[in-house]
Amino acid sequence: LCLSLFFGVLVTKFVCISMQVMKYLEPFLLSLEKLNEVSARLRKDMIRGLEKHAHHRAAVKMLPTFVRATPDGTEKGDFLALDLGGTNFRVLHVRVMEEEQKMLKMDSQICAIPQEIMLGTGEQLFDHIAACLSEFLDSQNLKGQTLPLGFTFSFPCEQKEIDKQSILIRWTKGFNCSGVEGEDVVKLLKEAIHRRGDYDISSVAMVNDTVGTMMSCGYRDQTCEIGMIIGTGTNACYMEEMKNVKRVEGEDGRMCINTEWGGFGDDGSLEDILTEFDKVVDRTSINPGVHTFEKMISGMYLGEIVRLVLMKLTEKKLLFKGEASEALHTPGTFETKFISMIEEPDSGLENAKKILTELGLRWDLVDARVVRLVCETISSRSARLCAAALATIANRILANRGLPHLKTTVGVDGTVYKKHPK
Ligand code: GLC
Repeated sequence: LCLSLFFGVLVTKFVCISMQVMKYLEPFLLSLEKLNEVSARLRKDMIRGLEKHAHHRAAVKMLPTFVRATPDGTEKGDFLALDLGGTNFRVLHVRVMEEEQKMLKMDSQICAIPQEIMLGTGEQLFDHIAACLSEFLDSQNLKGQTLPLGFTFSFPCEQKEIDKQSILIRWTKGFNCSGVEGEDVVKLLKEAIHRRGDYDISSVAMVNDTVGTMMSCGYRDQTCEIGMIIGTGTNACYMEEMKNVKRVEGEDGRMCINTEWGGFGDDGSLEDILTEFDKVVDRTSINPGVHTFEKMISGMYLGEIVRLVLMKLTEKKLLFKGEASEALHTPGTFETKFISMIEEPDSGLENAKKILTELGLRWDLVDARVVRLVCETISSRSARLCAAALATIANRILANRGLPHLKTTVGVDGTVYKKHPK
């Protein structure tokens, strides 16, 4: 009886507090109607980005990738691959076999990119990449060979061809190396390799991570025509009709377009759904005013949004008896991976208690539940916005082809997508 009374009191307290908490969470709840509006705005922005002249000013860049088809299984050979732009930098040696239609990862290595390099000079960054590649080639006894290299560079680039110039438009996520924006990153990579002089590579093909994801998914499933990333950043690509890609000559066939949907809203078009917390996240980021949509969705920012909401609720005495800890006051301390841990169906509440203790907070059971409610609200908003944007792309493909229905596959990758329990 005592136990059920105790839980009864607890539930009543949680219901009572969560009603007050909802006042602050309300702006994060996006109705289906609102999501449809968001989708319609993105649809317009995508059309604008594809135009010949307006694209310079377009928030959604819609970058031609010069990828005209997904793999058909006849590809073969040994390749090196570099992957830069997420949580880690990876070097790989892959073998693609035509007979068995298999892609074998021969070996790979992960190299850390220290913060000082992420914010240092471009030369330091590319020297670091070239050094990691050198170390990897040594360990694989590959230095004598001159292999072609696939470079997944997960930032917006203006390309002239897949293996020619790739001009970095701007850094996003946590990178901000000087002297790279406006420059050809393939050239900078080759120069760094030549500076070392201990190995060489043949051609370099550069792709965005969304394109890499679509291509590797498309290798196994020919119906894959969309690639989406929900990781440190967020973005998607898809196969567009050439006749709509006004910036590239030719009318026939299709070309993969890197939408750079992270920039959606940079012209103010999402003002009505931005919360006071989103505005603080933007203001305190290393790139204010840029990548508005990404800042509501991706792993680099979700934890920080939660932290700001928790701070507000503490100030309003709706959490931790009104007492925040030093850690909670410090930007970046509430990691996005905590959201996934707290939303875990079985161990979530236990995880919440451990995390709150580690953050130096004096919590009770109601606090732990409120924190979980905050996490669920912020991650649901992220998922809904992604869903609305993905629907926009699927609807565009449907309309392009004049089909009544579309059956397609979406290749998806990224730490948030892979780690979040829902
Ligand atoms: C950022 C980059 C984009 C990338 C995405 C996911 O939005 O600008 O190029 O695809 O992050 O990594």
